[in-house]
Amino acid sequence: MTEALDSVRIDERIAPDLAPLFEPLRVRSLELKNRIVMPAMGHGKARGGVLGPSFARYYRLRAEGGTGLLIGEAAAVGDPVAPAEPDQAHFHSLWPLTDWQHIARQVQEAGAKMIPQLWHVGMIRKPSSWPFYHLPSKGPSGLYIQPSDGTPMKAPQQYAEPMSQRAIDEIIGIYGQAAEDARRLGFDGLEIHAAHGYLIDQFLWHVTNRRTDGYGGATLKARARFAVELVKECRHRAGRDFPIFFRYSQWKIQDYGARLAETPRELAGMLEALADAGVDCFHCSTRRFWEPEFPVSDLNLAGWTKKLTGLPTITVGSISLNQELVPYTIRRLEKDEKAREAAVTNLDRVMEMFTRGDFDLIAVGRAMLANPDWARLVRAGRMDLLKPYDADSLARSTDFPDLAAPASRRQ
Ligand SMILES: Cc1cc2nc3c(=O)[nH]c(=O)nc-3n(C[C@H](O)[C@H](O)[C@H](O)COP(=O)(O)O)c2cc1C
Repeated sequence: MTEALDSVRIDERIAPDLAPLFEPLRVRSLELKNRIVMPAMGHGKARGGVLGPSFARYYRLRAEGGTGLLIGEAAAVGDPVAPAEPDQAHFHSLWPLTDWQHIARQVQEAGAKMIPQLWHVGMIRKPSSWPFYHLPSKGPSGLYIQPSDGTPMKAPQQYAEPMSQRAIDEIIGIYGQAAEDARRLGFDGLEIHAAHGYLIDQFLWHVTNRRTDGYGGATLKARARFAVELVKECRHRAGRDFPIFFRYSQWKIQDYGARLAETPRELAGMLEALADAGVDCFHCSTRRFWEPEFPVSDLNLAGWTKKLTGLPTITVGSISLNQELVPYTIRRLEKDEKAREAAVTNLDRVMEMFTRGDFDLIAVGRAMLANPDWARLVRAGRMDLLKPYDADSLARSTDFPDLAAPASRRQ
């Protein structure tokens, strides 16, 4: 079935309980019309790093559906070993960048804003991966940990040398180039992907960062030096007014129970350094937004981050879903009334936390894969029209038969 916005007529008045979500917000030079964000969601379908026309339509539909800010799927910066797989999106070189520019314009023409997510997978890339099978992967201490399959974390294995100072400087420069490109191409800002156990997070996490030089250390603040230098370079290259979002998480794909910070004080050490370096908004990635981050209060990660830095934050994690996020083994959502009810109840809790000022923006991932017009329906209070997310939602979201690749490109 092809994705299209439903033609069902809905009341254009905003449902009173949800009105605060539809107030504008300014983040540095960025004027957002509402508080609804689509977070980065990789599809692994970018041939040679290029997403192509079905993705331009996929993003445009979510913009037409009323989303305020769209974050492009994680896109590899210009290092040969930045992606883990050949069909992940790129954010460098002529073809991918020209395609991203087109996608951003489509989104902006439809009334939303768009930022790319800049990504380097670090040691998550398996050694000898195609096409640069002869190049080692990069990481702070050269340690590889297998992504989790739900069983306890696997032991780290030494698969490469720790990154040299030269390699660190090179990667920082490559991020700077991507930031400059994001601005030149007309994006509304950029997001640095420092979450989920990829390269930047490998520096932040004590398990993957065993360095004894200035990029390692016993404290989270000490291990944040790589991230801080990278943010400064992006700020320097993209300019003073260009919005920089920084996505981080406690959980890792190598270990869902991992933690960067055990206390608010420890978290503050990292966040203050990043805010000073130029971050404008923190995107705090959690799998369940309602979970308190530390035992001393019911604030979640975005709540604590806002309290500690005073900067705007985005919360995320199972909004309008009743289902666990387990990347790579996405479980099926029961397609029944109970699921719908749970989703609506969960929105009540989002609003409770939002209206008391815990966070400024909410990101809706899987529910927006299933519902391109999630924002429009929620604005009207028509949660009853939201389709449940299921395991096929991802593939369906970019399935446009009229945009199939030309015969010469089909295998
Ligand atoms: C298919 C899929 C791909 C994802 N790809 C990315 C990604 O490229 N970058 C990222 O930071 N997070 C990624 N995520 C995590 C989402 O951005 C989001 O944090 C997560 O889905 C939780 O939000 P949700 O419960 O609303 O889906 C992905 C999630 C899914 C389901």
